Amino acid sequence: MKKQIIMLPGDGVGKEIMEGARAVLNAVAGEHHHEFIFHEHAIGGSAIDRYGTPLPEETVKACSSADSVLLGAVGGPKWDHVEASKRPERGLLGIRKSLGLFANLRPVTGFSSLVHSSPLKTEIVDGCDILIVRELTGGLYFGKPSERREGGRTVIDTLKYTREEMERIVDKGFESAKMRRGKLTSVDKANVLESSRMWREVVDEKARDHPEVEVEHLLVDAAAMKLIINPRQFDVIVTENLFGDILSDEASVLTGSLGMLPSASIRTDGIGLYEPVHGSAPDIAGQDIANPLGMILSAAMMLRHSFGMEDEADEIERAVSDTLEGGYHTADLDIEGGRIVGTREMVEKVIENLSTKSISNAICSSYM
Ligand code: IPM
Ligand code: MG
Repeated sequence: MKKQIIMLPGDGVGKEIMEGARAVLNAVAGEHHHEFIFHEHAIGGSAIDRYGTPLPEETVKACSSADSVLLGAVGGPKWDHVEASKRPERGLLGIRKSLGLFANLRPVTGFSSLVHSSPLKTEIVDGCDILIVRELTGGLYFGKPSERREGGRTVIDTLKYTREEMERIVDKGFESAKMRRGKLTSVDKANVLESSRMWREVVDEKARDHPEVEVEHLLVDAAAMKLIINPRQFDVIVTENLFGDILSDEASVLTGSLGMLPSASIRTDGIGLYEPVHGSAPDIAGQDIANPLGMILSAAMMLRHSFGMEDEADEIERAVSDTLEGGYHTADLDIEGGRIVGTREMVEKVIENLSTKSISNAICSSYM
């Protein structure tokens, strides 16, 4: 298959982890006779520096006509003082919104070699396997007005959702639960927020169409607590934008490191944007120590969700797992008796673990 892939490395560690994903994808393409054509475009702080905007028109255009988009990370202290509407994060929010990517899938899957990296006890996290389905284009992130008033002494943000916006993400939650272990936890704050009460109505209504799915409602504060006490009770969590943002960072460390987690932002057709859950980590950028696995696993999600390349995606995930089993890890992880390697070496090890060694060796040497 021939696919056009847009790469948006962004800021901080974005560039180095994106190079890693490209190398892995090239290895997979060689092995399976695909042709991946990469086009790089600017987003975030680096786009502000070059074009004066975090989301150049040209980037949106390129993404809209591509088969899929990979994104590194955006933001950094350098742009902390630019006006709110021009912050690097606006680039990310803008591309999600303009591509209509309303569903953000964040799988939290443990690798057995990493259970010791978790801040929680092994018996609590071992075997935990959660999918967070986060609404991505509504709620407090996008509601208007969002502004200071009365000489800056009053502030207003707006939490707005339409019923349709709730329905389509809740549908995604049920769909995902049916493909997994059949349990859906809907997270809201229905004891306080009207939007949450409507959310609950939508979930209950949809539940009647899916009697085979076990549905539970949890308030977001309780959900945050239960994620720590007994994460294995969760299968699919469906929730609105801000709650999903917070819970997915919390859930990510259950399995060892935020650096490991991939995500897919999708809509009803195939196009999607794939990015690691972690941020741009400007403090470690350019030092060859960032964990590339969240980005590489995001590339695997792209192959599966946008291109229907199940085997290729499995292969990458297996190679990541084998690399960790082999004891190789970046500094953010902890594997007993393992060896800390840099970003590039980690990528090289993953490529070596892909099945066809001869091709991967050739690509590996050109990458290094
Ligand atoms: C994420 C990030 C973004 C978000 C930021 C960078 C705007 O935290 O993808 O989770 O809040 O959605
Ligand atoms: Mg976040």
